[in-house]
Order: sequence, then structure tokens, then C-alpha cells
Amino acid sequence: MNPSNNATVLSIDARAPDPELIERAAECLIRGGLVAFPTETVYGLGGNAFDAAAVRRIFKVKQRPPSDPLIVHLASADELLQVASDVSPLVKVLAERFWPGPLTLLLPRRSSLPLEVCAGLSTVAVRVPSHPVAQALLQASGIPIAAPSANRFAHTSATLAAHVAADLGDRIDMILDAGPTYWGVESTILDPLQTPPVLLRPGGISREELESVAGPVRVASPGERITASPGRQPRHYAPNVRLVLCPGETPEEILASIHEIVNKISANDPRIGLLAVTEVCSRLDRKIIPFVIRDLGSMGDLRQIARNLFADLRELEAEGVDIILAHRFPTEGLGAAINDRLNRAAQEPFF
Ligand code: TXA
Ligand code: MG
Repeated sequence: MNPSNNATVLSIDARAPDPELIERAAECLIRGGLVAFPTETVYGLGGNAFDAAAVRRIFKVKQRPPSDPLIVHLASADELLQVASDVSPLVKVLAERFWPGPLTLLLPRRSSLPLEVCAGLSTVAVRVPSHPVAQALLQASGIPIAAPSANRFAHTSATLAAHVAADLGDRIDMILDAGPTYWGVESTILDPLQTPPVLLRPGGISREELESVAGPVRVASPGERITASPGRQPRHYAPNVRLVLCPGETPEEILASIHEIVNKISANDPRIGLLAVTEVCSRLDRKIIPFVIRDLGSMGDLRQIARNLFADLRELEAEGVDIILAHRFPTEGLGAAINDRLNRAAQEPFF
């Protein structure tokens, strides 16, 4: 599809995408190609959900096990019956309130949808993205787009087109580059087929927001998530270097545990990367410990922190550090999603 073996990268305006560029990307999808495109959460690697060969190629280029189902993206909730066999009143209410946006819902799978998309499950995960480029692409192509995050399997998700190019640029057809994504963490995944509905992955839409519409929501335990949502291996979102989460809630506690951990490991003279909030970074004694620092932003601004998280992890990885130290966040709202990604990127929760 692309003679150079490298994806064609098209720069596109995030707010007002050029219809001609969108048309080129839509044609590529319709012909069976793979197009990475921005969504409001992270970049997705899209293929025609009804083209089984394209879907199989998504798994192949990501090196993703076929047991890990994909999310199907639709232009609007009006198209749900193309991929689902039934739309419950609860799904209608949730869709009305949160779509387009960072919420993925499980529905009963329509039998005409290739089984590969859903890894053989009887359910399909669906979302309607709000990013203008994703919306324009869905509308121009007129097809449901199956799209996992556009990263190598289990690696940190891509929040910039450069991340996609680094992981997959030599094996996909096109990348639409619209700059950084808005949320920086993947969508919330909710299973509304169970009573009460089960939160399978925390994301941009918080449990509290879901409960305001759906009533009580149960948060799946880590073990349960793996069985209910097969792709959810405990280790995921991982940089290619060891990540350690330093205990503590306040900046003072976190600083103390960072110093303790550094003392333990300093005998080997490692190059240490630090991923922390401003309140921690600004108080480090850098004369004593020469960290490579990525300041995530202020503790009170979880949106900014979520937006920076994956890019900063990738930057530390590129700096060639031997170990990355980071810490947890308050669990309210987006904090739950940030902690979930950090926990699963870390090899062990505590040192
Ligand atoms: O924000 C997002 O959701 C991004 C953008 C591109 O839309 N996509 C994304 O896809 O994060 P991915 O493939 O990285 O994660 C999708 C996860 C799967 O790993 C799996 O756990 C879950 O969604 N999933 C998909 N279909 C499912 C199903 N039928 N039942 C349970 N879980 C499912
Ligand atoms: Mg992913």
C-alpha cells in the first residue's frame, strides 16, 4: 500500500481538519489500510472493523495477542446497531450523556462483526470519540473503525504522532499528525451488561460521573479485570526501563521515600530518572542526587499530569536512564486512571 515501507505522515489541523487529507485517510481505510489517528484520549491504530484481514493486520503490527479485543469507534450512537445486537436503555442514557467522549461501553456483539475484533467474545467494546480528526475520519469513511492504542503491545500509549512513528512507523500505512492528544490516558471502560455496571478501566470519565447517571458502579478488582477484559494483563503501559513507585501521599513523604530508595540503589551508580509533581521536583537536592527530571505539573492539576504522563515516560526512556522513580496520586477523579497506568507500568508496586 505504501512503497517506501514507512507510513505516510500527514500533518492535519486538530480543530479544523482539511477534508482532502481526511479523504485520503478514509480511502486508505476503505482499501484495507491501517491509519493511525488522534483521538481525544491517545492515538489509535485504525482499520475497517468489517475487514477481517485489516483487523488481523492490526494485531500483527502491534504484536498484540489475538486474545486481546479491540475497541470499535463509531461516528455516533445512531450506528450502534451496525456492530451490536441490542442497545439497552442504560446504554442510551450513558451515550446521551458522555458521547462523544472518553467512555467505552460493552454491548452484545452483532454476529456479522468479524470475531477477531472481539477476540471471540460475545460482547463488543464501542466508543464515539470527540476528537474532530477522529470524527471527520469516521464520517468520511462511513465505516466503524476498530482501533487499539497506536503503540507496540504493552508499551506506553502514544499521545504524539512521533510516538506512533517510533513504535509502528515502519509497518502501517498512514499517520495523521494533529499534535498532542487532549486527555493523555485511554478511555474509561464500563460493562453496563452487568448489574450493577462494572468499571473495567478507569479513564477520563470518572466513577463519580458515571454513578450520577447509572447509579452505583462496581470497580472490578485487578484479577477480575484480567478475566473480564482479557487484554488487561497486569503489566502494561510499560516503558523499556524499570519503573519504581515511591510510597507517600504528601510531597514531604514522597521526598523522604525517594531519598531512601536512592540511598539503597546508589552503590551501583545508576542514572536515575524522576517522574514527579512540581511540589516534589522543586524540593529535591539536585547537588546530592543528579536526577534526569520530568516535572509532571502541579499536584492539583490532574488533567495536566495525565496529559504529560506517557510522553514524559517515553522521554525518560529515550534519555537512557537505568531506573525511573515515580509516585502515586490522590485517587479522586482522573487520579484513579493515572494510578492505574502507573501501577501497571511498574514492575512492582513498591520498592
Ligand atoms: O481511549 C481509548 O480507549 C483508546 C483510543 C484509541 O480509543 N483505545 C484503547 O484501546 O485504549 P486498547 O486496545 O489499547 O485497549 C482496549 C481494551 C482491551 O485491552 C480490552 O481490555 C478492552 O479494551 N476490551 C475491548 N473489547 C472488550 C470486550 N469485548 N470485553 C471486555 N474488554 C474489552
Ligand atoms: Mg492499549
